[in-house]
Amino acid sequence: MAMIAKQCPDIEVSVVDVNADRIAAWNSDRLPVYEPGLDETVRQARDRNLFFSTDVDEAIRRSTIIFISVNTPTKTFGVGAGRAANLEFVEKCARQIAEVSTGHKIVVEKSTLPVRTAAAVKRILDTSGNGGSFAVLSNPEFLAEGTAVRDLLAPDRVLIGGEDIEAVERLATIYGRWIPDERILTTNLWSSELSKLTANAFLAQRVSSINAISALCEATEADVDEVAQAVGRDSRIGSKFLKASVGFGGSCFQKDVLNLVYLCEHFGLPEVAAYWDQVVTMNNFQKGRFSKRIVETMFNTVSDKQIGVWGFAFKKDTNDTRESAAISICRDLLRERSRLKIYDPQVSERQIRQDLAAQFCGSDGSITDAGQALLDQNLEVVNSCAAAAEQSHAITVLTEWDEFQSVNLDRVFASMQRPAFLFDGRNVINRDAAVASGFEFHGIGKP
Ligand code: UDX
Repeated sequence: MAMIAKQCPDIEVSVVDVNADRIAAWNSDRLPVYEPGLDETVRQARDRNLFFSTDVDEAIRRSTIIFISVNTPTKTFGVGAGRAANLEFVEKCARQIAEVSTGHKIVVEKSTLPVRTAAAVKRILDTSGNGGSFAVLSNPEFLAEGTAVRDLLAPDRVLIGGEDIEAVERLATIYGRWIPDERILTTNLWSSELSKLTANAFLAQRVSSINAISALCEATEADVDEVAQAVGRDSRIGSKFLKASVGFGGSCFQKDVLNLVYLCEHFGLPEVAAYWDQVVTMNNFQKGRFSKRIVETMFNTVSDKQIGVWGFAFKKDTNDTRESAAISICRDLLRERSRLKIYDPQVSERQIRQDLAAQFCGSDGSITDAGQALLDQNLEVVNSCAAAAEQSHAITVLTEWDEFQSVNLDRVFASMQRPAFLFDGRNVINRDAAVASGFEFHGIGKP
């Protein structure tokens, strides 16, 4: 919305949320999301034609086009628990829009939704309203975190799905202000909804594919980066998104693949469901494999050993930790009774503690006494790579932050216990330099 406001000064954009703290943060100098270039984009448009407020009803009344951009987490209860999307918030939005609207509105699904949700939204709007009329469009967002502003400025494509040609045109015209026409695709509603799930499933599949090969590389003395380069040179395959890692994270991949699995099962396609489910199984294997390797390498015990963790976000250039591989790896290491010193340049201590506390919850949903004791005694969040390394037996790199590549490894090594291990879960540290400094080095998919 900030990008639309920036590019189209004549269009008034109101961003509303029921969470007053979040809105206050959007109105402050410290935005609630860390994203390169976003501060500048918001600053240019805020209070000119971009407004943040909690007055949801007023924004609905004033707007011609309404984007529903609420979260659709994986259901944790009832039918489809663990796989289906929880559409509670989408439905609540639709009901509120229906109640408050009077004239004609274009309602755009921006949240990633299961196929045929638009039809449900349209029914709610049409049947529970106060005489308003509605066109429903699907306009999935393909930006990636960390590169959001760049992606929004020059997207590979913008996708608009809908049956109401006039409404589709209207939205296309807005994007057309800065995006070339040939990059604006229009499809039917369901193709648009399914395209988003499919794109994320394909991307996640690529990461799981290269990660599967990384396990084989470790067993065979092949080097996964060399394999990825050779494979990626095939123009039919392409070189992007072939970086072996400790496992994919983020708010979308796992959720969307599981959602696709659920849809396939629902529509009586168990083989298709099992095919996609394997992408997530592979990712869990990759995360578990990495913690196991750390323990095995360190003489089968990390109990009471200190491990420095570099990076906690699910990828670089974001403070987002949702589904970050770091969460389950740190949990595994804490269960093994190691002492962790975690450093991430953007993730707050509060967030790290909250994410890990959630891993030690009992059946009532609150943290167990044993879990709390473990976190109190064995977890420290520090302010630098050096502080995480000091007196540690090992360092593990879990996010590919640029600054990790320019760390003085000699100095880090000198401050650590011996033997000093370096487990690079992102293959960003120069192996030869690490070995020259004295480290015992272990990369992903490296001999
Ligand atoms: C993704 C999609 O890319 C985006 O189009 C969609 O709108 C939202 O979901 P995002 O989750 O922000 O975006 O990040 P992305 O760059 O796709 O990375 C996802 C995860 O995969 C990260 O944990 C990343 O580290 C990992 N990854 C990515 C790899 O391990 N290897 C790769 O080669 C690429």
